[in-house]
Parts: sequence; C-alpha cells; structure tokens
Amino acid sequence: MNTERVPPSSYWMETAPAGAPAPPPDGDVDVDVAVVGGGIAGLSTAWELASRGREVAVLEAGRLAAGVTGHTTAKLTALHTLIYDHLRRTRGSEGARLYARSQSAAIRRAQGIVDELGIDCDWEDAAAHTYAENPRHVNKVRAEAEAAREAGLPAEFVTETDLPYAVAGAVRVSGQAQFHPRKYLLALADDLLRRGGSVYEGTRVVGLTEGRPCTLTTEAGVSVRAREVVVATHYPVFDRALLFSRLSPRRELVVAGVIDEARAPRGMYITPDQATRSVRTAPFGDGRRLLIVTGEHFTPGAADVEERFTRLSDWAEARFPDVKLTHRWAAQDNDSTDSVPLVGPLRPGSRHAYVATGFGGWGLSGGIMAGQLLSNLIAGHPVEWSGLYDPRRVASVVREGGSFLKHQAKVARHFVGDRVPSVSGPTPEDIAPGDGAVVRVGAGGCAVHRDEDGQLHAVSATCTHLGCVVAFNRAEKAWECPCHGSRFAPDGEVLQGPAVRPLKKRDL
Ligand code: FES
Repeated sequence: MNTERVPPSSYWMETAPAGAPAPPPDGDVDVDVAVVGGGIAGLSTAWELASRGREVAVLEAGRLAAGVTGHTTAKLTALHTLIYDHLRRTRGSEGARLYARSQSAAIRRAQGIVDELGIDCDWEDAAAHTYAENPRHVNKVRAEAEAAREAGLPAEFVTETDLPYAVAGAVRVSGQAQFHPRKYLLALADDLLRRGGSVYEGTRVVGLTEGRPCTLTTEAGVSVRAREVVVATHYPVFDRALLFSRLSPRRELVVAGVIDEARAPRGMYITPDQATRSVRTAPFGDGRRLLIVTGEHFTPGAADVEERFTRLSDWAEARFPDVKLTHRWAAQDNDSTDSVPLVGPLRPGSRHAYVATGFGGWGLSGGIMAGQLLSNLIAGHPVEWSGLYDPRRVASVVREGGSFLKHQAKVARHFVGDRVPSVSGPTPEDIAPGDGAVVRVGAGGCAVHRDEDGQLHAVSATCTHLGCVVAFNRAEKAWECPCHGSRFAPDGEVLQGPAVRPLKKRDL
C-alpha cells in the first residue's frame, strides 16, 4: 500500500496531547541538578533525583516526551533482539548478566512507579520474543535463548507463538511489559513538579562550562548554574569525549492500524530478518487493538523513505490482512559501536557532568535504567552495572572494531564526498513541489526545498554540528544529516540534535 495518504502522526502523540507549554526561565537559575533533555532518560533521572530530595530543573528544547520518546514502539523488555549472545562473546558472561539485571531492574522500577503514582498508562504485562522466519537463521535465535537464560532471564526457545504466521523459532522471555510512553512520562513530569522540580520547555541549551558549579547557557542567554549536569538529549549536544565517533544514528519507520481484538497477538515480537520487523499491539477499545509495526531502518538522509513506508505497510498487510492502517511515523535511534549504551561521566575528567546516550532501539528500558544509574552516581553510590555502561570504557577491537571503522568510513564519505554537488547535479528547476535537493550554487552547495505552492526555500547545506552535508527526506519534509543524525525543518530550524544552531538562510 502506498502510505502517502495515511496521516503522518504518532499515535502516542495524538492520544496524550501536551497541555500548555512550561515557559523558559525568565532569569538565571540555580539548582542542585540540571537535566538537559526531557525524554525518558532525562525525566527518569530528574524524577529519581527529586524523589531523593534534590532540587532539579529539566531544560527541554521542544516539548516534553515529544522527540524520540514520543515516536517509539514503547516496549519495556530486557530482551534486545540478539544482545546476549553478542555480550557473552564481547563482555563475557558477567557483562551479559549485568546487562540482564540492569534492564530487568528498570522494568520493575517502572512498574513500581506506575503502582506508586497510580499512573494510567495502558500498562500490560507481555512476553517478549526474538524470532526467525527463515529456518537458516534459527541457530542464532537458539543461541540467544541459551545466552539470555545464562544471563539470568526466564528465556526459552519456542516454535509456537501467537503471531498469525509461522516462525522457524523464537526466544521467549516472560514477565516483560508494554505501555503508553507519553501517558507514563507526562504523569512522571507532573509528579516531578509536585516534588519541587522545575521544567522549562522551549529552552535550547547551547553552552556548558564544567566546574563547581557547572554553568549551562540557553539560546536566549540565560545561565543555569547547577552542582551536577546531566546531558540526556538522545545524541549528546555536548560531546567532550568525542562520543560521536562511537554513535551511529539510525531512522526507523512505524506504521500502525486497527485490528480485531480476537486476532491481535498479545506478545511483543522482533526479528532481525528483512531489515528488522517489530510487532506489538496496544489497547484501542471497542473490541479492537492497535497493531504497531516497526522496521526498515536506514541512515538519516536516505532518499527512498516513501518506498520504505510502502514496503513496511505491505509487509503488515500481508501478515495481518484485516488491518486498517491509521498512523505512520518515524523514530530515530543511536547505536553505540559495541551495542551497549553510554551512561556515566561525560568525559574522562568530568566530576559533575554526566551523559546518557546510545540506547539503540531500546531507549525505554535503557532510559529508565539510566535514571537509576545516574541518580545513584550523583548520590555517590555507584551501582553494580556502572562499569558496564561507563562511557569511558576502553574500546576493544573485539567489541567494536568492525562497527567503529564502518561508522567512521561512512562519516568520512559524507563529510568529504558530499561537500560540493556536481555541476551535472539537480538545479532548482528540477525540484518538484514537496521535494528538496542540494544544488550547486557558485562553488558550494545550497539546500533547496520547493513547497507545495511552488515557492523555493534555500538554506545552507552544511550541517551546523560538524559540517557534513544534509539531504532531504521527502516523506517527512526535513533536512537530515547522515553523519550524526541532526534534523532540520525546511526553513533550517533544528528539529533534532546534536546540532543546536539552525541552517543559515541562503539567497539563491
Ligand atoms: Fe554531525 Fe551533522 S549531525 S555533522
């Protein structure tokens, strides 16, 4: 199915709309802890600290829980595709055990918070599965079942699931959960305010000076002084340890539609086959459930996003023939080169600045885990798994050699190869309404978008983060940077970091 007529909106955003925005600070601020970023990692950290009596401020460039967290699949599971077999080879059985324990603790923590605060967030217990349809891949799944069991999860290898199509084999882990991420997080933010915390929306932070105290500077020139600072902006907007060399951005598409409750699977599923397919359902009322299918991951800036949406919706309709697609949206994840999130001190010498990033596609359990880990570090009580996630860990060839080099080669290609469009490349006249292209103007590149009324809008094609060249995503009407995933509106405004400054307006 061509999904161009399916409204491009996230079900989570639509069914948990935000109230009036919390205004930016109207003067300088002094707090114990400032958290930059109001997604699940930032809000979980802020809430954990506020519940320990710290005075906390959350600074969010846009709206709370509206970025990556508002566009996720919202599974809460410790089973992350094939992570345990990978971890036992790269971090040993102790590393795999700590990963399982930390992610399971995060799920239990979320369940405890839901119960304690009485949050109505469509919480459902569900089993998580990683499956293979292709019999040739079943050994990987069998190995994952064994590794996950060794790591302490209640994992088993099964060949029967409640999917309406056959699988060759699956790892099944019971006792996991799914929920509505925005209902959970907006309630958490309300409780943070009740505990004396502050939230500032529309507040982009552009500067950080580490010290005692640390000082953050906002785009509007306000200073926020804090004894401790946490950077939880998905891709870190401050990157003193060059983490960008160990993070790789990946966009992923989501289609969702209504199916009959009697035919809806209750488990959560993912397969690494076919550029990843993830399936879950959510309550929808009237004897129906919402089927949510994710997949088709790609590097930001890919030209064929509409075709990918079509492939994903065709896949969903072939396997769930009665589904009526109602929503489509896209998420963005950052994969770390060793597949383990980076949570801890911002750089080797940092004593009061912390970072949480690199959650791959598992930012919900990862974000809640980061909240627990960072609040304990700040309180001076490192947890058992602090070392596993420490961003200062030494890279090893075994852990990340291949993916590190692959990522660096890709960045270098976009940094050098894309810089000057060829003379035979597109001209503004070639750009169709709704589309965009980088065109050659003089000796350099200019990012040009033609709106649906035929008007041209031109901005610099050079990403304000580290200078790679952006590309246009026609399906989502955004300029995207393939190097580290910054995204910009057609007029150049920042939609997503690590860039914090807009693309400069250009005259054609
Ligand atoms: Fe880093 Fe664009 S996001 S150069």
